[in-house]
Amino acid sequence: MKSINLFPTLMKEYDLTDSPGLDAFKKVIFEKGQTSVHGLAVNGRSSHGGFDPLNFEESMPMLQSFMQCLDDYTTESGNWPTIISGSWYNILPKGGFTHRHRHESSVVSGAFYVTLPEGDHGNFYVLSPLQPYMMCMHHIQTTPYSTYEFDINIKENHLYLFPSWLEHGSRENNTDKDRVTVSFNTNPMPPDRLDPNFVEQIWGKGHEDS
Ligand SMILES: [Fe+2]
Repeated sequence: MKSINLFPTLMKEYDLTDSPGLDAFKKVIFEKGQTSVHGLAVNGRSSHGGFDPLNFEESMPMLQSFMQCLDDYTTESGNWPTIISGSWYNILPKGGFTHRHRHESSVVSGAFYVTLPEGDHGNFYVLSPLQPYMMCMHHIQTTPYSTYEFDINIKENHLYLFPSWLEHGSRENNTDKDRVTVSFNTNPMPPDRLDPNFVEQIWGKGHEDS
């Protein structure tokens, strides 16, 4: 007898503590950042739609690190490479959380934890996309197959990559310090930014002008 698990969803965690440019990136956020109230960042503030923390010269090394992680993610998941289309940051003080949401118009999304107060763990959760199909199930025990919400154990200076269609949210910050996160979205990489040999290998000949 054996169990066969189907339909895996890839979420990856990257420890970027030693990434060059991490301190400079944090400085950009804390010294230049601008936020406003935002519907998704309940009781907190967000730079979504305005200040882009990756759009600074000082942030280039971290942008490179994020891009390397994205390459790793798309390779493992068998996807066409992606490029970051934009980023923003959220500040969630005590009582702050984000409602469940998806990142539409994006392929892969990232959440990087700039500051995570001590004791503020397990704050990121994801929701199973299979729930609508399980309408006739009568779950009487908690198993991986009967669970709709999964909490992820988050760490500071770690990046989490996940498919943008994956619904997620964050639990309330119950500490007295701020939780600060950077999020980003991606587009498919334009073919002219890739090695022509790679493009030819995937698409065959004849797409040079695509
Ligand atoms: Fe999000």
